[in-house]
Amino acid sequence: MRIALTLTELRTAINEQKRLGKKIGFVPTMGYLHEGHGSLITRAKAENDYVVLSIFVNPLQFGPNEDYERYPRDFAKDRDYAESLGVDLLFHPEVREIYPNYPSLTKVTVSGITELLCGASRPGHFDGVATIVAKLFNLVMPDRAYFGLKDAQQVAVIQQMVKDLNFPVEIVPCPIIREEDGLAKSSRNVYLNNEERKQAVILSQSLKKAKAEIERGERNAGRIKEMIREMILSQPLAVIDYIEILTFPSLEKIDSMENKTVLIALAVKFGQTRLIDNVIVEIGG
Ligand code: PAF
Repeated sequence: MRIALTLTELRTAINEQKRLGKKIGFVPTMGYLHEGHGSLITRAKAENDYVVLSIFVNPLQFGPNEDYERYPRDFAKDRDYAESLGVDLLFHPEVREIYPNYPSLTKVTVSGITELLCGASRPGHFDGVATIVAKLFNLVMPDRAYFGLKDAQQVAVIQQMVKDLNFPVEIVPCPIIREEDGLAKSSRNVYLNNEERKQAVILSQSLKKAKAEIERGERNAGRIKEMIREMILSQPLAVIDYIEILTFPSLEKIDSMENKTVLIALAVKFGQTRLIDNVIVEIGG
């Protein structure tokens, strides 16, 4: 596995592969890799000739009171994991390599769908995500890029950006990977203490129940949200940020779920840790 720390090293490696006509699969991450990232890398390996993984904790997508400084990092462990999965090129730049003129910066803003869900709770977050992903796409020039559906809104935002700015890349959304008890894998799960970790299982349990209710015929979004709210609030440490049911990937509010693909999305705090989870349900008439 080759490691590129600078833009020049990255470009040299990419140009070599492009000249050889290789298909490039790209997995952008902020590191502290887990099996969720592993599943993206494995899929990228299966579908492309050359796999690029980026590890970059992007300061631009964190708010002033968020966890940028304490976001978990373990480069040595990530490097070994990436190598074991067959990553061809690992890009791990410093902040000043990516943002040399910071705070003077051209930003990418996807309007509309970034103003709700996590965009409402984390102002500026999706500008940071869209800007770094656009920069990485320009540098890596991938044929396909892989994103986990745990961040379903992020997938919708990136798909919109790719369409609007005509990036020649296929976005491949990949399923959520869960712990045995259902908790969605996330680098931030390490923040949870034992009691918070135990109670956090209610997120996936409530989504599972919601999906089952829809499969039994429930079509009223308000009733489903209320059921989820009650389940989550049965856990004393849970503080709800949002519970939303929207169309996917257009993220429009709905009352009835008839004939739609819907995203049921949650953000809930346990102590200092804000967790998100979701399920996408295809609903017939
Ligand atoms: O999902 C993430 O880890 C980040 O938002 C991403 C896409 C790597 C951009 O920094």
